[in-house]
Amino acid sequence: MHISLEVGDYLKHSCPVLAVGCFEEDGDLEWITRLDRAMEGRLLPLCRQEDFAGKLDKTKMVHSLGRLPAERILLIGLGKRKDFTVERLRRASGTMVQVLKKARLERGSSLLHSAAGDDTDKIRAVAEGALLGSYEFSQYKTASGEESAVAELTFLCHDKNVRTKVESFVAEAICVCEATFFARDLVSQPGNVATPAYLADKGLEMAAGYGIACRALERDELERLGMGAMLAVSRGSHEPPRFITLEYRSGKVKSRPIVLVGKGVTFDSGGISLKPRAGMERMKDDMAGAAAVLGTLKAAAALRLPLHLVGLVPAAENLPGGSAYKPGDVVTAMSGKTIEIVNTDAEGRLLLCDALYYAQRYHPAAIIDVATLTGACVVALGNVATGLMGNNSGLKRALTRAGEASGERLWELPLWEEYGELMKSDIADLKNAGGPTAGTISAGWFLQQFVGRSHWAHLDIAGTAWEEKGQPHIPKGATGVGVRLLIEYLRSIC
Ligand code: BES
Ligand code: MN
Ligand code: ZN
Repeated sequence: MHISLEVGDYLKHSCPVLAVGCFEEDGDLEWITRLDRAMEGRLLPLCRQEDFAGKLDKTKMVHSLGRLPAERILLIGLGKRKDFTVERLRRASGTMVQVLKKARLERGSSLLHSAAGDDTDKIRAVAEGALLGSYEFSQYKTASGEESAVAELTFLCHDKNVRTKVESFVAEAICVCEATFFARDLVSQPGNVATPAYLADKGLEMAAGYGIACRALERDELERLGMGAMLAVSRGSHEPPRFITLEYRSGKVKSRPIVLVGKGVTFDSGGISLKPRAGMERMKDDMAGAAAVLGTLKAAAALRLPLHLVGLVPAAENLPGGSAYKPGDVVTAMSGKTIEIVNTDAEGRLLLCDALYYAQRYHPAAIIDVATLTGACVVALGNVATGLMGNNSGLKRALTRAGEASGERLWELPLWEEYGELMKSDIADLKNAGGPTAGTISAGWFLQQFVGRSHWAHLDIAGTAWEEKGQPHIPKGATGVGVRLLIEYLRSIC
């Protein structure tokens, strides 16, 4: 979908459909009143009808029957004015695109961005909501779908100054959304395509396009580095592992880097501790953390953020092959710590512990890891929030704020030392899985043993990486979660 900008009066603007936002109990916004007059007083009564009345997520399409150059008016409910949030605007904008798509309208014009004032975050939110909602992954559909895609959306601005402002924020939103789509595409790819080698190729290709330094380490190098935990996971599969490193540094910046680490399990069968068959197909999304890291580097480079940023992606497939690692095995992580394997399905932390240890080489200002790490996090927070843990309150606070601003919200869980009891092993320094309780925290606690004194935060996206039902701005499937959040965070520290 392409977004274009036009300056002009919406009463004189001809288009197939003109979308406007309406608050509940408030039909008297200036543009509604003007449109109503042009419509000879027929718009407001429709606006107030019970089935719409400006309620959140509700819409109403009204034909202008020649009374306006715009053929139709699409009313979009924004809910109560006092409950208004930027996230609601993102939703409303996604809703707009969904309605156009269903009505098979390939073009539309919008006034939504001025619904609640022309502030930066609102303009960005409208552009983001529309773009994010227009996403489709149709590569493997051989017949074209029922619904046609919305090709062009025009933002109407009332004067040239507003246009210039809107233009730059739309351009930023496009960078971030394209990176989110890059992440969604990677996660949507089936496991037989998106192997560790595929992730590495995509990373190298993306990096080459932006002048990001990128390397993909192979098994022999991982052996030399002593990444025994990560290598153990990869042993059950014929797909060889990769350890992808990316480094972006904008010209003048000399600061210590922020290191992002993304779990890249391209398929998680559970290994010898095999998962139940129902729903196992979803485990192709177990590299959503990797996708978020690759997407964030892409967006940061596209936006030319003045930053020093490193991305680390340990990638492997977790299968129960003949040489697979087994419960009872003891492996040695790169840090030298020994780990008793009690459950081969707790593989993500084994990839991450080597990557987190490797991250120390960069003397990072902060390390942030992103991982579909625990089913327990889905139980605790559902798909509404990402789990947050960490050892530095400033970092956690900044991330939490970025979560509020981006709509990709975080909720913190504690890492009190008592939880460490769960991970004690009789035979090794640690075991890789605790009991049935506090599963998200014990995983976080495990990771903390490998970050040294670095400032570190852990984001468990097990619940937020995949959308089951579909929301206006988050279509069913891969969400690309993490990209918008991390870009918002990085912007806040630039
Ligand atoms: N990739 C899974 C976590 C997951 C589960 C993500 C459901 C999304 C939806 C992870 O590797 C895993 O299997 N974790 C285990 C850990 C346990 C064995 C300690 C889990 O959550 O059951
Ligand atoms: Mn697993
Ligand atoms: Zn996993």
